[in-house]
Amino acid sequence: MNGEVQGIGLGLRHDLATELLERRPASVAWLEVHPENYLNRGGRYQEMLELARTHWPVVTHGLSTCLGSPDPFDTAYLHDLGAFLRDLEVPWHSEHLCLGGVDDRFFHDLLPLPFTDEAAEVAAQRLIKARDAIGRPLALENVSYYAPQATDGLAEVDFVVEVLERADAALLLDVNNIYVNSKNFGFDPRAFVDKIPTERVVQVHVAGHLVREDGLRIDTHGEPVPDDVYQLLDYTLRKVGPVPVLLERDNNVPPLDELLAEIDTLWTIYRNAMGARDAV
Ligand SMILES: [Fe+2]
Repeated sequence: MNGEVQGIGLGLRHDLATELLERRPASVAWLEVHPENYLNRGGRYQEMLELARTHWPVVTHGLSTCLGSPDPFDTAYLHDLGAFLRDLEVPWHSEHLCLGGVDDRFFHDLLPLPFTDEAAEVAAQRLIKARDAIGRPLALENVSYYAPQATDGLAEVDFVVEVLERADAALLLDVNNIYVNSKNFGFDPRAFVDKIPTERVVQVHVAGHLVREDGLRIDTHGEPVPDDVYQLLDYTLRKVGPVPVLLERDNNVPPLDELLAEIDTLWTIYRNAMGARDAV
């Protein structure tokens, strides 16, 4: 039975799994797993997931069903994904609002959609179809991007909100992605958060990123969370309330204790934000 997903969570990544499962730190309240790492794989991967589920509530985050691609879905994959999510009893599943491939070629990268009405409609219809196929709530995640958009399109946040409303969908709000884009393209990250319909936010991602010598920020998930991102998280949580927050760390993974120190910081921010809301 899956418990309630709330507070601060950590990704169940293979680099960390053995130590995490042995130590079972109480400050990690839930886990996020990538279905692609487990689907149609048995053996120790499945055993690790089963063991994790006995100790933590779990949600899933997909990497391959990008919601904006014009190509038809792989219906066999969605069927398998739906069965996997049912077995895990996840309260929702999430995928990225991006273009992951075209003409049967998979890019292995999360490429941005054009921020247009037409692309919003394609993504919304695709999200509805995927949600129907997996039989679970499906949250979209805002992504980072590096290519400038056409100047006659929508602002990024208006595009995200357009898809959310057309599909009546939930949102996985990645505050690091908002911050990275805001620095690379020169907008106010708090103004982005202000436009988000807070009642749609089911989960938040937080992560670190790389700052290149030329100033470009790259969403690597390979660095500690910087103060500016912590501050944006604080601002976001005061608006959206007690939604679960995941620390994403996929590359350059440090010893578990370093991540647990970041998780302690996240708990402090989380509790302070909830206390500030209660005091209003
Ligand atoms: Fe994310």
